[in-house]
Amino acid sequence: MTMSQPCQCMTIADDDPRYEALRAFIHDEENSQGIAMSALQEAQRLFGYLPLEVHKFISMETGVPIAELYGVTTFYSQFTTTPKGQHQVHVCMGTACYVKGAQKVLDKVTEILGVGVGMTTEDKLFTVNAARCLGCCGLAPVMMIDDDVYANLNDVDEIPCILAKYRRESRTPNR
Ligand code: FES
Repeated sequence: MTMSQPCQCMTIADDDPRYEALRAFIHDEENSQGIAMSALQEAQRLFGYLPLEVHKFISMETGVPIAELYGVTTFYSQFTTTPKGQHQVHVCMGTACYVKGAQKVLDKVTEILGVGVGMTTEDKLFTVNAARCLGCCGLAPVMMIDDDVYANLNDVDEIPCILAKYRRESRTPNR
């Protein structure tokens, strides 16, 4: 399948005030053990993700090489280098779901949202994930959106309605 992918290489402005907050945090913590880990955790909390420029900033402030910081980021699943959407869509690609047509579910989701697995829609509403097993194989094929489980998705034509519900809710103020 071919589709145009929106650019994921978003940048954070050099004068973003969150850098000052991160600098203050690092300076408060600079004598503590494991500064790389705690600085990355604080940066993830402040920015929501860890792009290259944030790694460079932490490296300059802490003296920890960028490669070492990236090693930590890529090792721990709590960190992400790309922005995440408001809603996490997990399509189960485990064996039971795969046998029951999970690929069609995933294809439909990526077609509707216009992004591939691991990517976030331009409006930051959805991030698409492929999961190994969501633990409810008897309901295959299964998709989860945040904490909501969608079971027996044999009819992929249900998927546009499901996704539309989240779009509507995100536009409803004070929900
Ligand atoms: S394989 Fe999909 S829920 Fe287990």
